[in-house]
Amino acid sequence: MLRLDAAPARAFLDEADALDRLRPRVEAAHRAVLDGSGQGGDMLGWRRLLRAPNDALLEDLETTAARIREDADVLLCIGIGGSYLGAKAVIDALTPYFRAPSRRAGNDLFGEAARNAPEILFAGHHMSGAYLRELLAYLDGQSVYVNVISKSGTTLEPALAFRFVRRWLEERFEDANRRIVVTTDPEQGALNALRAEKGYKKYEIPPDVGGRFSVLTPVGLLPIAAAGIDVRSLFYGAVAAFERLAAPEDNAALEYAALRYALHQQGYGTEVLAVFEPRLAGIGGWWQQLFGESEGKEHRGLFPATLQYSTDLHSLGQYLQQGRRTLIETFLMAEHDGGDLRVPATEADLDGLNYLAGQTLRHVNRQAYEGTAHAHAEGGVPVMTLWMDRIAPGPLGELLYFFEHAVAVSAYLLGLNPFDQPGVEDYKRAMFNRLGRP
Ligand code: PA5
Repeated sequence: MLRLDAAPARAFLDEADALDRLRPRVEAAHRAVLDGSGQGGDMLGWRRLLRAPNDALLEDLETTAARIREDADVLLCIGIGGSYLGAKAVIDALTPYFRAPSRRAGNDLFGEAARNAPEILFAGHHMSGAYLRELLAYLDGQSVYVNVISKSGTTLEPALAFRFVRRWLEERFEDANRRIVVTTDPEQGALNALRAEKGYKKYEIPPDVGGRFSVLTPVGLLPIAAAGIDVRSLFYGAVAAFERLAAPEDNAALEYAALRYALHQQGYGTEVLAVFEPRLAGIGGWWQQLFGESEGKEHRGLFPATLQYSTDLHSLGQYLQQGRRTLIETFLMAEHDGGDLRVPATEADLDGLNYLAGQTLRHVNRQAYEGTAHAHAEGGVPVMTLWMDRIAPGPLGELLYFFEHAVAVSAYLLGLNPFDQPGVEDYKRAMFNRLGRP
């Protein structure tokens, strides 16, 4: 079960009873998330689908994923923002760091399914021509399947990438149309038109689920299942969190939302989410979008930034320790992270590391976390830590829902609609004007 250790951050509150005084507003925001009475209350489908799990859909996704896994060397996922970050986050967290030269050999930390999975690649999340050219060259000679994911079907980055990839696939595979799966709105958008002509397999994105809240719909679940990850455990981990976090008492999501809001009101402007296990960095990317697009409106909201330690302690660590004191820091940690390599002893000890001989790297990394949390708190950064038991599908499902619930409550505390992103349209308008879109 997820656990929030917020004591070090609470010590930074100007008034000791700040959270008690905030309590009625937090509970009202929480109730609005539960009953849909807040702004954007018609976009709570991400909760509805956990209230009434659709096992038939999960089975259908597993069947499609099995077909892809059987036949594909590569599954290319085309999407941007909420249409790729969730899948990438979970896949990065739950698949091996390194792929063996033969896909059949592998790392014992992962199940058979993850070891034998196709490589999952991403496109359509930017518009680099060099990337696309090199990607298509890399794909040559491999058995490729494509999952194109766009709720609107009109987003330029994935739409353009799909045009290139579709032609590439059609030139190489007689059964190209069978190799393409679209995930999109039930009715709207260009992908529905293409699908009607080509007969692609299609999954629907429920209209009441926004992109950044869609990881537990086919948007995230198909790529995740194709990667060999147990999507049922992931989904039901989220269901467990959905049920547990419905109660206002002893609710870590409410505590997290309240604390970051109270600190924001005191003038803190940035929240850093820091991980010590690189495979969790993708969760940071997903979290960044979830909080950035949900809260960054009307000149309000903490700026969310994700860091990967200890790597970034050697770059941004200096700023965290001694830069402007407007940062709060949330560590995302796992009790069991698989890092049980032991430091070997050497006779001569020329590198002077024998004091660590016999220790696991997990222990060393843990001391780095404890030392960093201590030093940053001493240096004036309110720190808190979110603990998972393990990096596994169930706990990750819990974590996804935890953040979704927390961000909705947080945005309501700020008086904002968590489910729209009006600011994103401004750059699009300016870009499309320049491109001469009719
Ligand atoms: O959270 C959101 O709604 C956005 O980030 C979208 O997911 C992103 O813009 C992609 O949109 P679409 O799926 O319509 O291509």
